[in-house]
Amino acid sequence: MLTEREAPARGQQTDLTVRPRRTRRTETLRRMVRETRLSVDNLIYPLFIVEGINEATEISSMPGQYRWPVAKIAAEAESIAKLGIPAVLLFGIPDFKDEMGREAYNPNGIVQAAVREIKRAVPELVVITDVCLCEYTSHGHCGVLSPDGYVQNDPTLELLARMSLSHAEAGADIIAPSDMMDGRVRSIRTALDGGGFENTPIMAYSAKFASGFYGPFREAADSTPSFGDRRSYQMDPPNIREALREVELDVQEGADMIMVKPALPYLDVIAKVRERYDLPLAAYNVSGEYAMLKAAARMGWLDEERVIRESLIAIKRAGADMIITYHSKEAAGWLD
Ligand code: PBG
Repeated sequence: MLTEREAPARGQQTDLTVRPRRTRRTETLRRMVRETRLSVDNLIYPLFIVEGINEATEISSMPGQYRWPVAKIAAEAESIAKLGIPAVLLFGIPDFKDEMGREAYNPNGIVQAAVREIKRAVPELVVITDVCLCEYTSHGHCGVLSPDGYVQNDPTLELLARMSLSHAEAGADIIAPSDMMDGRVRSIRTALDGGGFENTPIMAYSAKFASGFYGPFREAADSTPSFGDRRSYQMDPPNIREALREVELDVQEGADMIMVKPALPYLDVIAKVRERYDLPLAAYNVSGEYAMLKAAARMGWLDEERVIRESLIAIKRAGADMIITYHSKEAAGWLD
């Protein structure tokens, strides 16, 4: 389309054959020339598995999303697979939390049990597991604390490696570390290789920003830090060069796929990472992004389907191959 600026000035010679024919823009033609496509194959659906409940319970700040008991997860996984959604991302919320997040690497822990259940019921559904200690520690931080309350990087690495190995042993297809400790991809890679899981890929949450958009997730996952915040290990929103450095480190350490999180407020970061790296790129359309659209739609302020489509295609257009989104199930119904 010619914009105002590109239109030739009066008196200048005009080649009328290059004028756009707006009236012929039918839906069929629009589809033919569409530059970006979103398919259900691009979607990953997050699931919260909770210990100590018997029924699925809705998360109040995320209407339409539930916390699931292991006993009900097989049926849910079947319905997800029936919609054509290729993958799920699992978060575990244990009953028992301690300083060291011990339940995270318990072979019979909540995520390990859920992975076994899902792989038994729907073997073809790709199971990705989130690896982070924050849902498992009594203080809600993503790692082991020193006596003065700081997260200790290196002692945490060992626990993340154990956690990852136990997920792989349970049958996880992809390991997704979300903690942002330095060196975690290498230490997880070493542990997986040592355990005979050389072929299990790592999807690294490479550029993870300290974001207010995680609010509803922390309610869902019971993982709000009991003091302080995550700014010492998650990234500062204004920094894109730092984001690229974080991605570079993960790539060098052996990440098989990389991720930017959140998605919508960081489309420029997605685009830059896409430009620089050839690895498969995921973007996490996080809980707060979901909650905003749901709330406005409930109020009748936005056309829900339209804004969800527009948001997801924007993330794809920015350069993401895969979108982790709570909208997966509803979007699957409208997409190819
Ligand atoms: C950390 C983790 C978080 C999310 C995914 N993994 C929360 C955080 O870092 O505080 C947020 C996802 C969302 O908001 O949907 N385990």
